[in-house]
Amino acid sequence: MSRIGIFDSGFGGLSILKEIVRVLPEYSYIYLGDTARAPYGNRSQEIIYEFTKEGIEFLFRNGCDLVILACNTASSEALRKIQQEFLPKKYPYKKVLGVIIPGAEEAVLKTKNKKIGVLATEATVSSGAFKREIQKLNKSIKVFEVAAPMLVPLVEAGEDKSESAKILIRQYVIDVCRHSIDTLVLGCTHYGILESEIKKTSKGITILSEGKIVAKKLKEYLERHDEIKKKLTKKKSIQFYTTDSKDKFDRLGSRFFGEKISSKKVDL
Ligand code: DGL
Repeated sequence: MSRIGIFDSGFGGLSILKEIVRVLPEYSYIYLGDTARAPYGNRSQEIIYEFTKEGIEFLFRNGCDLVILACNTASSEALRKIQQEFLPKKYPYKKVLGVIIPGAEEAVLKTKNKKIGVLATEATVSSGAFKREIQKLNKSIKVFEVAAPMLVPLVEAGEDKSESAKILIRQYVIDVCRHSIDTLVLGCTHYGILESEIKKTSKGITILSEGKIVAKKLKEYLERHDEIKKKLTKKKSIQFYTTDSKDKFDRLGSRFFGEKISSKKVDL
């Protein structure tokens, strides 16, 4: 029997896990946040790939056959290589999915004027992953990606409601909205927490936050893949692992997950 693994560079993926558990409460989950090495958003592609691989192998060793990269940076910088090279060579029967395609598909469905904006980390923007996936679905759509590197540190410092956060959010949103977009993808796990502030500056624009979208897509994926679904343990359990301080993970993680959590520290 197997559990569903959820990997993120840190805490943000907990907001995605929260929605997955709401939609699929019957399964057993393991969450790993690589907090010791987060944020990934300003790191190189090579390093993001190596770190992500280590996280995935930890989850595989702990009984997961299916892993979700609940991190946009890891999904855009590492997932393709993992699916095309790493899994076929080392784990041909295991699956790793990401969060970019679900976000891209939903954005394509929602846009009417065919102009989509994306706010994300430096690494996600420079990978061009959102643009690639959106334009695979519809070549005529224009995609405007803006890196918002200051937002992750602000959220992690618990300053997402501060005046400086509001000023920064406004600047980033104005920057992406000047392209007359009608749909904005919050392409970073941390931005969901900022959604209400982002909405204030982007009136009339459809804001897509990933948690609910990824959860819905995972449910549909399991419906299409009965061979995976029937192997999943149905014990309604969640284990949380962090690579850095347990106390910090439990405190900050609870904000993203929406309820109290208790983690264990591991070395990868
Ligand atoms: N989880 C990352 C993402 O969704 C944000 C934090 C980081 O940069 O590691 O892109």
